[in-house]
Amino acid sequence: MKTVTLIPGDGIGPEITNSVTTILKEAGAQIEWDIQTAGTDVIETEGSPLPDRVIESIKKNKVALKAPVTTPIGKGFRSVNVALRKALDLYSNLRPCKNIEGIKTRFDNVDVVIVRENTEDLYAGIERQIDEDTAESIKIITRKASLRIVEFAFDYAVKNNRKLVTAVSKANICKLSDGLFLNCAREVAEKYPQIEYKEILVDNLCMQLVQKPEQFDVLVLPNLYGDIVSDLCAGLVGGLGIAQGANIGLEAAVFEPVHGSAPDIKGQNKANPTALLLSAIEMLKYINQRDVAEKIEKALFKTIKESDSLTCDLGGTSTTEEYTQAIIKNL
Ligand code: NAI
Repeated sequence: MKTVTLIPGDGIGPEITNSVTTILKEAGAQIEWDIQTAGTDVIETEGSPLPDRVIESIKKNKVALKAPVTTPIGKGFRSVNVALRKALDLYSNLRPCKNIEGIKTRFDNVDVVIVRENTEDLYAGIERQIDEDTAESIKIITRKASLRIVEFAFDYAVKNNRKLVTAVSKANICKLSDGLFLNCAREVAEKYPQIEYKEILVDNLCMQLVQKPEQFDVLVLPNLYGDIVSDLCAGLVGGLGIAQGANIGLEAAVFEPVHGSAPDIKGQNKANPTALLLSAIEMLKYINQRDVAEKIEKALFKTIKESDSLTCDLGGTSTTEEYTQAIIKNL
């Protein structure tokens, strides 16, 4: 039995968490959940959206499954997600985007893995109001963070039989910051002669991705471009409802979907739990419960292929609960 920290989040978080924990239990996963609440609801009682107990729990258990947490836009507290990644030094954000049979999209040959730097760039949160009409955000790129994220990308490529790593930047404009990122990428690439290495500017990447996504394999990006491009890639394979993710550091790993708390569909039994379920499947593999992971994966893909119990975001009419039961039936 492995103890794993579980953050049910807010918005649609608790609904999809309920679905995923039910499926994992039915499949026979050997997990004891250490449930830790975080986010808006916790501020009133504990004074912070991310109390220390959450960090301590993940430090102790080393692995967490996390549903989305709301961050107020343009005001209020800093993102719980960003704070968690910083506190645990979860420096790599891994987001595989691959077509799933049964989900109709414009392309059927997408298989891109996004490796996003997770600790710095504009997400360092260094902002100030210079005067009433001017605000400033500072973009931090360091040699240490750039080297380790590119190394993570190449290591991933080697271990997962990938052929190409493409470093993404805007080094024509941000000559110093993105220039440093690119120099680090070139330095690391030399150590991996077996993997092809290419570079691309982020604007061109976006255009190429929506025309010929099959030309890309592993993409490594600084934080902000990684955030934006991973949503774009999620759209290529069927949307946020199926986009999984993981934040991995040397001491801990937090598995979570790419999407947010979707307040527009909160409490309506409409949310698609697939992204969180795929994240949980990766988590099961990470903690060496591979058999259960594969069993769930098969049931999930079968359910999607059968296509008669899909949620609204995938063109179906089923509720979260009906979709969950269909997966359980296929286990
Ligand atoms: P969002 O990802 O929550 O929603 C974007 C659109 O996709 C909405 O129309 C939503 O209904 C739909 N959607 C998202 N997930 C879905 C699912 N599982 N099933 C069906 N439809 C789904 O992005 P938005 O609206 O920009 O952000 C809402 C909140 O979430 C914000 O406070 C944001 O800061 C937070 N957020 C949290 C993240 C995290 O906890 N890791 C990541 C991204 C955003």
